[in-house]
Amino acid sequence: MLTLHLPCARGTELCVDKELQALGAAEVRRGAGVVRCTGGWDLVARANVFSRCASKVLVELAVFQGIDSEAELVDALAGVPFEDRLDEKGTFAIEAHLVDCAWNNAHYAAQRTKDAVLDRLRAQGKGRPSVDRARPSLRFVLHWHLTTVTLSLDSTGEPLHQRGYRRGVEGTAPMKETLAASILAIGNTDVTRPFLDPCCGTGTLAIEQALRALKRAPGRDRRFGFERWSKRAPELDGALARARTEARDTELAELPAPIRLSDWHRDAVADATTCIDNAGLGEHLACERLDAREAVKSAGEHPLVVSNLPFGERLGGDDKKRLQLEGFYRTLGERLRTLHDARVLLFSAHPRARELLALDAVARTKRDWALRSGALPARLYRWDLP
Ligand SMILES: C[S@@+](CC[C@H](N)C(=O)[O-])C[C@H]1O[C@@H](n2cnc3c(N)ncnc32)[C@H](O)[C@@H]1O
Repeated sequence: MLTLHLPCARGTELCVDKELQALGAAEVRRGAGVVRCTGGWDLVARANVFSRCASKVLVELAVFQGIDSEAELVDALAGVPFEDRLDEKGTFAIEAHLVDCAWNNAHYAAQRTKDAVLDRLRAQGKGRPSVDRARPSLRFVLHWHLTTVTLSLDSTGEPLHQRGYRRGVEGTAPMKETLAASILAIGNTDVTRPFLDPCCGTGTLAIEQALRALKRAPGRDRRFGFERWSKRAPELDGALARARTEARDTELAELPAPIRLSDWHRDAVADATTCIDNAGLGEHLACERLDAREAVKSAGEHPLVVSNLPFGERLGGDDKKRLQLEGFYRTLGERLRTLHDARVLLFSAHPRARELLALDAVARTKRDWALRSGALPARLYRWDLP
């Protein structure tokens, strides 16, 4: 039985927990920015193919407790059978994360771990693999927290948020695809209700809603790090092939309800259109150029209005623009208050978003969650309007 660690954005752990439960994982436990579980190689393949919210699937190799110094770490690593994972045909790299521990230099920790790998292989009379930091055939992840060191194998490679549909797009403040998927999961956005993102930017939320609605697995067509492991478990290839087949078999041809997206800025409309095409969703989605307040007027019956609102990330201290943005939130709130039987799910890093939108008083239910927008604290607000 393997222990898996799935890192994810803080605040989205429950989304990954539910995904793992649905995939049949055992002993699912949530940490801060990570979810752990147990399972076999089949789960490694399926979590990589089907997870929408996790950023990686790491396979635990060893855990060392009570590590207080470099010498103790090097001693512990000398006992890890790296030769079972790596031979001279492969290349490798080390990624180190240090949190409140005896060292604070992650680069140096990675170097010492690399030396420990090579020393061990030499002591076992094995050939020497090369280091390739950019695209190794095998990446070890060392996580040192207080006095506990966990050494894992990165089975994913390029992080799962890199779905591949952002190719050729330099959108303003695009949100990570895994965060968008988590927002939809937290907001419980029913795929049978009409969906509108009136400030869509590069279209991430609408694209992720379309992938959910079509039951299209985000990892259906991508390559994974474990496919480059020269000494991988023999059952992994079959597990990946089965997961890809399962993904294709369960996919729907049509959206159960319309998904609309629009933005006022021409560049955003062009970027969203590129992303829609890259995602192979051209027959399902089309981005329009509209002011958000106009777009909301035709949100449809029992709609979901979901958006990552502008929050002045590029406005600096310009008072006129700040007031303009506040006016936008107020008038958008006025328009949203005219909707009936709507679920409104808005993500914003604007500190006055809730007050300016003024939906609390009219809503049947209201909830909010603390998340982050890049480095900034942000909130996700959900209102059900009567
Ligand atoms: C934070 S970005 C959205 C980013 C998006 N979630 C993504 O992943 O790319 C906010 C968007 O609101 C748009 N916007 C600003 N004012 C608008 C308005 N009055 N009507 C419609 N869109 C507007 C901006 O052009 C920008 O694309």
